Amino acid sequence: MSRLDSFIRRVTAQRAVLDWAASAIAAIPGPVLEVGLGNGRTFDHLREKLPGREIYAFDRADNAHPLSKPTAPFLVLGEFAASLPAFAASQGAVAALIHCDTGSGDAAANARQAAWLSDLLPSLGRPGGIVLSDQRLAHARLQPLQAPVDIPPDRYFLYAIT
Ligand SMILES: C[S@@+](CC[C@H](N)C(=O)[O-])C[C@H]1O[C@@H](n2cnc3c(N)ncnc32)[C@H](O)[C@@H]1O
Repeated sequence: MSRLDSFIRRVTAQRAVLDWAASAIAAIPGPVLEVGLGNGRTFDHLREKLPGREIYAFDRADNAHPLSKPTAPFLVLGEFAASLPAFAASQGAVAALIHCDTGSGDAAANARQAAWLSDLLPSLGRPGGIVLSDQRLAHARLQPLQAPVDIPPDRYFLYAIT
């Protein structure tokens, strides 16, 4: 498969799970956490699908397109290892949806980061909330969900917070 085809498959799967999750949390109160703002593409998509929903976006760097960037206090800059525990300490486990889009080209680094992110996420999301991730996560309180949309295996990972 060409890199272009691979990219298209990845973002098509990403859009499908984001669209599903936006509907799935309709009755669940609480903000959305965008963990990995990057260019702001998925933030912008969530914002369009969830008008009126607070969306906090986390990243170490402010590299988002100016039209796809939250304003204070919804833009949270810093390392996840500091910013996510600080958010949990100040707001509690309130999120209805957590979207983790944190991957880089380094598979080993991605797996190491996914391990400690897994441990942080239950302190951020409310029971019944949903976690979407571009990396496989593992935690007793993250129950894997079968993708309710047609996406390639292991392209995106979905969990319910218990
Ligand atoms: C794949 S990009 C996100 C793409 C974004 N969702 C979009 O649609 O444009 C991953 C982002 O996660 C951020 N990131 C990765 N690890 C991080 C960490 N430990 N702390 C803070 N930011 C991190 C990177 O700076 C990068 O912007």
